[in-house]
Amino acid sequence: MRYVQLAGTDIRCSVLGFGCARLMGRLSRRQSLRALAAAYEQGITVFDTARSYGWGESEAVVGEFASGKRDRLVLITKLGILPPPRNRLRQFLKPLVRSVLSLATRHRLTTVTGAIRAQIQQRVSSQVQRHYDLETARRSLDTSLKALRTDYVDVLFIHAPLYEQIADGKLLDYLSEVLRAGKARAIGVSTDIDSTNRLLAAFPSLQVVQIENNLLNCHLDALHRKDQIGVITNCPFGRQLLVENLTQLMSTAPAKASEWSKETGIDLCSADGVGKLLLTYALATNPTGVVLCGMHQVEHIARNAAVASVDPPAQTAFQRVVRDIREALVERTCSN
Ligand SMILES: NC(=O)c1ccc[n+]([C@@H]2O[C@H](COP(=O)([O-])OP(=O)(O)OC[C@H]3O[C@@H](n4cnc5c(N)ncnc54)[C@H](OP(=O)(O)O)[C@@H]3O)[C@@H](O)[C@H]2O)c1
Repeated sequence: MRYVQLAGTDIRCSVLGFGCARLMGRLSRRQSLRALAAAYEQGITVFDTARSYGWGESEAVVGEFASGKRDRLVLITKLGILPPPRNRLRQFLKPLVRSVLSLATRHRLTTVTGAIRAQIQQRVSSQVQRHYDLETARRSLDTSLKALRTDYVDVLFIHAPLYEQIADGKLLDYLSEVLRAGKARAIGVSTDIDSTNRLLAAFPSLQVVQIENNLLNCHLDALHRKDQIGVITNCPFGRQLLVENLTQLMSTAPAKASEWSKETGIDLCSADGVGKLLLTYALATNPTGVVLCGMHQVEHIARNAAVASVDPPAQTAFQRVVRDIREALVERTCSN
């Protein structure tokens, strides 16, 4: 595993981070702990969670895993989005839904898994509660620290705010207070690229940002002040959709796929190769920051860690091939 010093902070960490959004949602407690341990064994030290992840239970399972090795980990959490209220029926149904999903995935019943996920996504979105007021922020951080079994987090983010929602600066003043009190080592925002840039221009106190960056949505290109702040990017696989779309592209254009394979040195005719290309792109474009992946299958964790252990390829040639692939992908999507 390669390690970096996150710009604008005193945090040293792995270039690959483990995204905890699906812990205790799609994954049971046992599966969550297994994935966290597998990531740690591969040298991953960054774990990105949030108060709202896993119906409010992701932080607690991360805290359980972190117990006894807190000082070797970089724990990131967020405030601003609250989990839906606890619901007994949901607690009862969760294991059942997980079993159906895992059975459907094993048998490649993509319409079934897609339909179930869309339903869950819709329910989650309808119950998402965004609160950027100080009282909720204080309570949220206290709950997070307790769940994570620690008295400080390494990075504290405001979760997905629009610029206008926090432009009065009150929440950012509170984050500075948290920093001074030693409850966070660095503070920042995790949101869309436009709000990020506007917030960076207005608030010099921001030390770290988290934005989406992948082969299709190359938001890092548009990020301001990137040399002065810690940059964490997410969704290198486009939440798995990019893997599926690129795999289809390669199978419908085999001649191009083998040409691109030769140029990148990655076998793009295999699903493993497509994943490797996507992660290589995300790491190469964020050479001094961290790339967060959602990865729960142990094979994915091991494969991604192997990619993050070698230096990214020389930029110019690689970027040229990536541009060709992106154009072909966009063209194919538009013609479908
Ligand atoms: N606003 C925010 O703060 C925000 C927004 C979005 C994301 N995030 C953070 O970013 C993390 C990652 O986001 P995400 O999980 O939505 O998107 P992602 O990392 O782009 O996609 C995860 C998907 O890719 C699959 N995958 C992992 N490695 C692979 C490989 N080598 N080859 C093929 N497929 C692979 C995973 O499968 P398996 O799980 O089955 O292994 C999973 O289905 C989140 O957990 C969260 O921490 C933050």
